[in-house]
Amino acid sequence: MKQHLIGALCALAFVGGSIAQTPKKPAAKPAPKPAQAAVAEEKDAATLEFEKFRAEMEDSNPAELFEMKGAEQWKAKRGPKNVSLAESCDLGQGVGKIDGAYVKMPRYFADADAVMDAERRIVWCMVEKQGFLFDDIAKRPFANETFTPDITNLVTYVAAHSRNMKIDVPLKDPKVRDAYEIGKEIAAYRAGPYDFSCNTCHGSDGKRIRMQNLPNIATPKGALSGVQGWPGYRMTGGVMLTHQWRMGDCFRQQRFPQPKYASDAVAYLLTYMIGNANGQTYKGPGIKR
Ligand code: HEC
Repeated sequence: MKQHLIGALCALAFVGGSIAQTPKKPAAKPAPKPAQAAVAEEKDAATLEFEKFRAEMEDSNPAELFEMKGAEQWKAKRGPKNVSLAESCDLGQGVGKIDGAYVKMPRYFADADAVMDAERRIVWCMVEKQGFLFDDIAKRPFANETFTPDITNLVTYVAAHSRNMKIDVPLKDPKVRDAYEIGKEIAAYRAGPYDFSCNTCHGSDGKRIRMQNLPNIATPKGALSGVQGWPGYRMTGGVMLTHQWRMGDCFRQQRFPQPKYASDAVAYLLTYMIGNANGQTYKGPGIKR
């Protein structure tokens, strides 16, 4: 069984180079439930201070700069094929339609035969419709102090068009359900030098590391805090970062190898986490500390 799980996880995360892979069937065994420690949520002074600061910042949200760049890039004819995403990219609501698209992803896309989160889907469009090379995008997919990739602007733009809308991952779709179940398994999968899983840090209430509260992504409330504010302008470093980045960075915290950019593994984890936040209101791109 363990061999099988390891095999499945490795295949998902590290062999899955193609962005249009057929989802694998979930393994049968459900993960054992982590003990739910009922620890009261208390906010320390630093958290309160940051929340105050964030409330002030949100009046002039730096994410808007990236949103504006993304708007230009969405509409511009670009890439070897010289077409715009606005005239070619279907995010699940029809070609070029972005209103409400972000909160309804991950979803299954028949043309790619894959479950895709928003970032993965936009990358797919850039490759398939505009003719960009996946490897070029995947070389530097995330922002740093001196560089913000186009994909980050585009995701921010698309996400902003779901502001104040209900999160609605189509979990009734059997393909999305499968992805959700695999994502749930990945979240519970323990390995690496410390034998950590996502759930070690995010599977029960009231956990924290240093000053960070760690949301319990299995609950609607915790999952929402894992969704809210992403893509987000990160005060630490002053960079705009996406959900794909967040997942990758937590694999690092877990001392796992990095998952492939825009891979099945990340899409499935996001399906699990965002799916758990279904029915709640997304407030748009935000600020993260
Ligand atoms: C060793 C503990 C640890 C593990 C394991 C871990 N994380 Fe995290 N996670 C953190 C910490 C610490 C933060 C806050 C980081 C920060 O704000 O700089 C965080 C932040 C997050 C956030 C953002 C929360 C928010 O408020 O926006 C999400 C979502 C998340 N992790 C998901 C995951 C997933 C999915 C996994 C498994 C792949 C995982 N984490 C594994 C420690 C961990």
